[in-house]
Amino acid sequence: MPLQNESFLQACRGERPAQTPIWLMRQAGRYMPEYRAIRSRVSFNELCRSPELCAEVTLQPVDFLGVDAAILFSDILVVFDALGIDVRFEPSPVLSAPVRTEAEAKALRWGDPHETLGYVFDAVRACKRALADRVPLIGFCGAPFTTLSYLVEGQTSREFERIKGMIFAAPAVFAGLMERMTTLLCEYLRGQVLAGVDALQIFDSWAGALAPADYRAHVLPHLARLVDFTRGLGVPTILFARGNANLLAQVAELPADVLGIDWSIDLDQAIRVTGPERVVQGNLDPMVLLGTPALVESKARDIVAAGRAAKAHIFNLGHGISRHTDPAIARLLVEVVHAASASSTTSA
Ligand code: CP3
Repeated sequence: MPLQNESFLQACRGERPAQTPIWLMRQAGRYMPEYRAIRSRVSFNELCRSPELCAEVTLQPVDFLGVDAAILFSDILVVFDALGIDVRFEPSPVLSAPVRTEAEAKALRWGDPHETLGYVFDAVRACKRALADRVPLIGFCGAPFTTLSYLVEGQTSREFERIKGMIFAAPAVFAGLMERMTTLLCEYLRGQVLAGVDALQIFDSWAGALAPADYRAHVLPHLARLVDFTRGLGVPTILFARGNANLLAQVAELPADVLGIDWSIDLDQAIRVTGPERVVQGNLDPMVLLGTPALVESKARDIVAAGRAAKAHIFNLGHGISRHTDPAIARLLVEVVHAASASSTTSA
């Protein structure tokens, strides 16, 4: 069945649809009363493991906001099920068994994601059924470094002392873990594609923890292997590395179909780095949505205009939406982006 709204996938392919497509990172979540109603009945872990509830939550922003893509409701940390490690959300994540020493790394049991993460693939199928081809479905994972940083730190970290300590004091242990993690993530994404996702996003949310030279030496080769692998899966890949715009030139060396841009750089400047032949996604500071409708409208228009310098542009936030956002403002953003991009289309 062809999709009723192809604009997001067209942009991923480098075409310019009639309107700039838009979706929002973390578009399903606590800022929506419909989400909070479900979370008042079930824990976050139960929600992630219930394919029917995942589908319901995935569709909430599609129905309310009118976005051009859905993103699977799950979390980058569910992959630790493949290692037999539990994550509690308190609400910040805490791992049952962080891995910090060479002995702990050696003792890890790397399970097969096709067996251990079946509930995610069931959720993909439930989402596809519920969406009934209205908009495409994006699957995702954390990038190897971001995922490994949770495994080693055991929680969200400010200084990344443990994972950086491992890079600098035990680089072979770190490299071995990155190698295994990358292979796990390849298979995890393959499972999502087999279950039916239409695109993939790789979140390197903590990329900015590393100096550029260290990112290049210790992280980029593994990320390159993951991106090369996803290119063989037959769906477009979005690569989002966050926290240091100086890393954009490095991630732009990788053949991801779409480069995610965080909010720390103006979009026109980012496109000068990526070059005009790349597709970009981003990059409104999510906190702007805490401002007035007039401010949201003017900043959104600026970003739509800047996006014209790229091969194609998918509008998004420059990081996840804040839980304090008024859903009506998020909906206004979607309307403004659609209207601004449609009205200013001159000759293509
Ligand atoms: O975007 C979506 O709507 C799809 C669902 C999604 C979630 N997490 C749901 C979630 C996605 C794509 C993620 C990715 C994710 N998870 C990232 C990468 C993106 C980013 O923000 O940088 C990271 C680093 C995580 C890890 C994580 N999960 C943290 C640090 C937390 C707690 C703090 C927080 O932001 O809430 C979570 C929990 C989480 N993941 C919630 C949601 C809706 C909140 C859970 C709740 O209390 O209901």
